[in-house]
Amino acid sequence: MQTQDRLKSFVLRKGRITSNQQRAIDTLWDKYIVDSTEELKNILPNTHPILDIGFGSGETTAFISKQKPETFVLGAEVYLSGIGSLLSKVSEDSLENIRILNSDIAPFLEEKVSDNFFELILMFYPDPWPKRKHHKRRLINKDFIDLLNSKIRPEGIFYFKTDWSHYFQEVKKIVSRDKKWAVLEKKDLKNYLLDLPQTSFESKALVAKRELNELILQRIS
Ligand SMILES: C[S@@+](CC[C@H](N)C(=O)[O-])C[C@H]1O[C@@H](n2cnc3c(N)ncnc32)[C@H](O)[C@@H]1O
Repeated sequence: MQTQDRLKSFVLRKGRITSNQQRAIDTLWDKYIVDSTEELKNILPNTHPILDIGFGSGETTAFISKQKPETFVLGAEVYLSGIGSLLSKVSEDSLENIRILNSDIAPFLEEKVSDNFFELILMFYPDPWPKRKHHKRRLINKDFIDLLNSKIRPEGIFYFKTDWSHYFQEVKKIVSRDKKWAVLEKKDLKNYLLDLPQTSFESKALVAKRELNELILQRIS
């Protein structure tokens, strides 16, 4: 399925933007926000490129950019308040190795990203769309997993976390039938990925006593 035919995985609402977020947006937008009509290879250096899909407030994106200056991190988020939060962190820590896509990641990946590009793709706590009638809005399905496979380098990693067990089981079911991925254990990850900060969505899940699940996949073909 072409991504433009699929239902959107988000509903855009105008959230409240704090003065800090607005200031960061006003001053840093031109430098850090990528043109979604441009080929990514013309924007992001090819050295250790990482993608964080749906970064929320950007805790993980900023952490990796700061801890691993030799990488280049693209964060994708549709909500302006989240982008303002990440840009505030960028400003506090003078982060240079980071860029932000302010649009739907699915068509961008399909149309503007070369195959075998990313070394690592993160997708932490994607919107779960818990009602059965909304499951088709979930970003991860078989087509999206195939799209990620083509954009990750051979031996690159897709790291997925969710607090919705139905979503977790569905994704596991998709990859269990798929010979293009190997399932890794947490100990196989690089050290900096073992020490990621807790995101606000993760904290909410813990307060609600939802189980946190994660799946680490390596592209093997
Ligand atoms: C539940 S939040 C998780 C945020 C963050 N990863 C974390 O762990 O806290 C999911 C985020 O994905 C974003 N999102 C949903 N669909 C998206 C899409 N197609 N492209 C880019 N971002 C998307 C939403 O705006 C939302 O902020």
